[in-house]
Amino acid sequence: MARRLAVYLLKSVLHDHQSFDEAFAGSSARDAFAAMEARDRAFARAIATIALRRLGQIEDMLSRFLEKPLSADAFEARAILIAGATQLAFMDVAPHAAIGLAVEQAKASRFSRHLGGLINAVLRRVSENRVAILREQDAAHLNTPAWLWQRWVSVYGEATAREIAGAHLEEPPLDLSVRGDAGEWAAKLQGEVLPWGSVRLSHKGRVEEIEGYAEGAWWVQDAAAAMPALLLGDIAGKRVADLCAAPGGKTAQLAAAGAQVTAVDISAARLRRLGENAARLGLSVDVVKANVGEWQPKDRFDAILLDAPCSATGTIRRNPDIAYLKTAEDIAALARVQKRLLAHALTLLAPGGTLVFATCSLEPEEGEAQIAGLLADRADVRLLPIDAAAFNLPPEAVTPNGCLRTLPFHAGGMDGFFAARLTRS
Ligand SMILES: C[S@@+](CC[C@H](N)C(=O)[O-])C[C@H]1O[C@@H](n2cnc3c(N)ncnc32)[C@H](O)[C@@H]1O
Repeated sequence: MARRLAVYLLKSVLHDHQSFDEAFAGSSARDAFAAMEARDRAFARAIATIALRRLGQIEDMLSRFLEKPLSADAFEARAILIAGATQLAFMDVAPHAAIGLAVEQAKASRFSRHLGGLINAVLRRVSENRVAILREQDAAHLNTPAWLWQRWVSVYGEATAREIAGAHLEEPPLDLSVRGDAGEWAAKLQGEVLPWGSVRLSHKGRVEEIEGYAEGAWWVQDAAAAMPALLLGDIAGKRVADLCAAPGGKTAQLAAAGAQVTAVDISAARLRRLGENAARLGLSVDVVKANVGEWQPKDRFDAILLDAPCSATGTIRRNPDIAYLKTAEDIAALARVQKRLLAHALTLLAPGGTLVFATCSLEPEEGEAQIAGLLADRADVRLLPIDAAAFNLPPEAVTPNGCLRTLPFHAGGMDGFFAARLTRS
C-alpha cells in the first residue's frame, strides 16, 4: 500500500502538477488510502520526497536501461519505475522487495499491466549497477532542472549555483521558533540555538509528538523564514500589519514580540490555519481576509511585513516538488504581483515607519531587482540597510547594499530568502 501511495504522489506532482503537500493531505480522503497506517503513510512520503529530490539521478539511471523512452501515456509505469529505483538506489530497501512489489503493482493496474516485464528488467539492472552509476553521476547538476541551473549559474556564478543545488540534496533539519527562552527549549529538546534565536533539532517524525507542541511553547519555522520579522526591530506595543500572513509563522513572531498585529491574507482556508496556530500558541491577533492589493484599513501602521507570494524556489530543499511545478513564466507573473502589492503596502505605512518586503525565492526578479526598480521609481522610498551584527545574522546573508539574501547552504542549511527594509518619507 505504501508503494501505491508513493506512486500516486509522484503522478500527482509530475503528471497532474499538483503540489506535494496538497496531494499528500488529499490522499487520506481517497478510499484507496483512507485506512493506511501512519507508518505506511510516512514510508510512502519518504519514497516520494526522496524521488523528487533525486529525480534527475533516477531518470538518468532509468534511461540507461530503457531501450527507448516510455510513451507519454505510460506515466503510471514511469512513476512505478521512479519509486522502485528510489528504494534501490537511495533507501537501502532489499532488491527483492522493491522490485517484486513494483512488478506486482504494475500487474494489478490496467494501465501498466503490459509493462510488468519491462519494469522487472529495468529495476534489476538498476539494482545491479547502482553503486557504479551513483559514483559517476554529477548529483547537484542532474537533480536541478536545466532552466533553474542556467538561471542560478547566470545570477550567482557556477560555484555558488553548485552549492545551492548541493544543499537541495540534504534532508533539512527541523527548525523551531520559541515563544519563551530559546536556550531552555534547546536544552530540553536536545537541539541547538542559532545566533538569531531559532532552535534547530535533528528530530525525525511527528511534530505533534515533540514536547511543548501541545502547550504552544514553539512553532515550526525555517531558520531563514524567522529573519524577516526580526528586521522590524523592537515592535513591542506598535501597530504592525502582517500582509500575506497565512499560515502565520511570521504573525506568531510579531505577536510574541509584543506587537498589536493585524494579519491579512486572501485565502480563507489558510487564515483558518493561522487562527488555529495563534490559538495553540495563546497569541492574540486581528485577522482580516482581504486582497492586500486593495485593502483599505482605517489607520496607517507603524510597521509592516509584506511576505509576498512568490515562486518559492528558496524552499526547494524542504519542498523538492517546487523544482518541477514552477516555470520562468510564473516568476515573471509573480514579480508583477509583488510590485503591485508592495506599492499598495507602502500607502498603508505611516511616514517614518518601517516596511520589510520578503520573499522565499532565489530569483532576483522577486528580490534584488524588485527593490532596485522600486527605489529607481520612488524618490520618497528609502532603503534602510540591514546590519548583520545587530541581528546576529550570518554576515554572508547580507548583501553589500544591506538587503537580506540567504542561500540554502548558508549556516548549515536554511531556506533561500530575500528581504529588504524600507521607509517612506
Ligand atoms: C509566502 S505565503 C505567506 C507565509 C506567511 N507569511 C508565514 O510566514 O507563514 C504568501 C501568502 O500570500 C497570500 N496571498 C497571495 N496573494 C494575496 C493577495 N493579493 N492578498 C492577500 N494575500 C495574498 C497567500 O494566500 C499566502 O498565504
